[in-house]
This record gives sequence, C-alpha cells and structure tokens, in this order.
Amino acid sequence: MNSVRPSVLAMRPYSPGKPAEELQRELGLDRIIKLASNENPLGPSPRAVQAAKSAAERMHIYPDGSAYELKQAVARATGMPASSIIVGNGSDELIHLLGLILLGFEDDEVLIGNPTFVRYAAAAHLAPCKLVEVPLDASARHDLPAMSRALTDRTKLVFIANPNNPTGTLVRRPEVDRFVRDLPPQTLLVLDEAYYEFAAHVEDFPRSTDYILDGANVIGLRTLSKAYGMAGLRLGYGFGPDWVSDAIDRAREPFDVNSLAQAAGIAALEDTDHVARTVENNRRGLEFLAALFREVGAKPFESYANFLFADLGRPARPVFEALLERGVIVRPGDVLGNPNCLRVSVGTQEEMEIFAKEFRRIMRPAVAH
Ligand SMILES: Cc1ncc(COP(=O)(O)O)c(C=O)c1O
Repeated sequence: MNSVRPSVLAMRPYSPGKPAEELQRELGLDRIIKLASNENPLGPSPRAVQAAKSAAERMHIYPDGSAYELKQAVARATGMPASSIIVGNGSDELIHLLGLILLGFEDDEVLIGNPTFVRYAAAAHLAPCKLVEVPLDASARHDLPAMSRALTDRTKLVFIANPNNPTGTLVRRPEVDRFVRDLPPQTLLVLDEAYYEFAAHVEDFPRSTDYILDGANVIGLRTLSKAYGMAGLRLGYGFGPDWVSDAIDRAREPFDVNSLAQAAGIAALEDTDHVARTVENNRRGLEFLAALFREVGAKPFESYANFLFADLGRPARPVFEALLERGVIVRPGDVLGNPNCLRVSVGTQEEMEIFAKEFRRIMRPAVAH
C-alpha cells in the first residue's frame, strides 16, 4: 500500500531543462544550445575551478561542517556579520529548510506570487500548511499591495523572488518598504535574490541586507549558481536574524555543503572581475533578446535577471518544440502556468545569434533568412 502523504503525491517532480546531451543523442545533432536553466554562459571563474581541483585532493576528508572560511568569505563580500550567514547545498536547500523549521500546522500559511520560482510551493507542500498564491500584476511583477492584503495572523512565510523567476521582473525599494512595514509579527519575509548581481546596479533595488540590518523579519537568499557560474557544484547562501540562522543550523544535514563547493565558493566570491564580465555579457544579451522578441511581434517583460520572459501572443509550446528540433533548448511557459510565454536564458553572443536565426525562421516562416 502506498502510504506516502497525499500532499507529497500531489507534487509534480521538478522538471529541469532538458539536458543538452540527451537531446543531442535523440536528434543526432552536432550542436546543442541550452538557454533553459539561467546558467552562466561564460562558465565558472578560473580561480574557482583551480580551487575545486586543489580541494579534490582532500575529498577523503569530511567538509568543514560549520563552513567557517566560506562564511567569512560571504561576510567579506557582503558586509554582513558572519553570525547572520547561512549556507546550503544550493539556495534550493535553504528554501527547503525554511519550510522545515517554520511550518508545521494545517492552518500555517505560506504566501507567494504566481508564477514564481517553483520550489516555494514545494517547500509548502512538504509541510502541513496552506499555500496562498497571488497573481502577478499586468506587468508580470509581484503585486505587493494585493499580497499585503493577503497577509493574515496565520502567515508564517512569504517568498518573493526579486528579480522574479520566470518573469525577470523587479519590485522596488518604496513598495518593499511598505510591504515590510505591513508584515504581521509572526511573518518571515524571504527575499530570494538569486539574480542579485544582475540587478544590483538598480538605484532603488531593495537589498535584503538593509532590511536585516534594520532588524526586520527578513531573510535574504543568494546563490553561486547564476552570476558565479557554479550551478553544478551547488552552493547557496543567505542572511537573516540570528534566530533563523540558529534554527537552520540545528535542522540541516551536518555536511550539506561539500568541500569542493566551499573551496570554489571562496575563490569565486573574490573574483569580482569574472562577475563583472558576466554582468556585462548579460546586459548586452538582454538588449539583444528584447529587440529580437519585439521584431517578431512578441512582448518581452522588463528583465533584471539573466533571462527574458516574453509573451508570444500564441501558444509557445509549438515554438519550443520547433526550437528543440533545431537543437535549441529554452523553457516553455506552460510548465510555468503561462502557455503563451517563452523563457530564454542569456547565452554567449554566438549562442544568441544561432537562437535568433532559428527563432526568426519559426516565428516568421514566410520571411527568408
Ligand atoms: C529565484 C530562484 N531561487 C533559487 C534558485 C535555486 O538556485 P540554487 O541553484 O542555488 O539552488 C533558483 C534557480 O533557478 C531561482 O531561480
């Protein structure tokens, strides 16, 4: 008899972008371009790779369970006190742990936007609680006034990805200030800044760190998977009030962040040039993609992340399938609740040119290219 909890059976397994190798085998293609998982097209920092190689020599030794050096490196990079810093096996793990330490009663509420990053709903489904979803506004931004109205004295957790995934949109300092002011005392707001480095130039970007230093009930999450190019090694970090970092330390697995990730993470956080190159490539890539989408009559949403989300004005699934056949992997919006939308990650200039060529052919078959 299947005795798994019904809430777990109701979950859909995470569907990652199709692995490039799998598609290459299936279609017998000689080149595959993957613009589906918001990875860094420039790869990792060479300094991080070197640090991981050196650490590999000592893989027979357990990692530092307290991640002391790594937390010091995060503290140096962010200016946050080491005692407020949490680290995890990707920020995915930190999202999961926040659910574990905070939720536990059927009437606990978790408040999120829709669509947003899928792992927030997963954290809620894994615990007894009620998930409350508030649609994004017409510009595909988090509707903070509507989310404020959805707060109750049972709201335990609010997750806001800023910039949001899959839309790339941003909420600004004045509106987040108001939202934080309205938080009930038992509510913890998670500002998930997975794409922080791509948006940090925005003047009124509402940094989680500022709210935390002000003593608000806010957690900030960041990751080495995006701008730092370390998605395969799994390393996320965050900050928050000491009572949260203390609880996470109690609940987490003792060696959740492996020794290669710790060593590479320290080196990556110091390589600010690599991040600057990545951010510059991304800025150009976003401009290129936005112009391309407009050219074919699609409506791109304003993106502050390393991907662009666009409304094609017609079902995006056939476009996604046609791109796949041509060896280009992107994300169709139907898996994200927006069937007319496509999400495309920024690649290298060469990858984007190839994507553009294939995309134009599919969107405007009558026009020869
Ligand atoms: C908003 C957001 N948060 C968290 C994550 C998870 O990142 P990590 O690789 O650190 O687990 C992602 C990954 O796509 C994301 O988009």
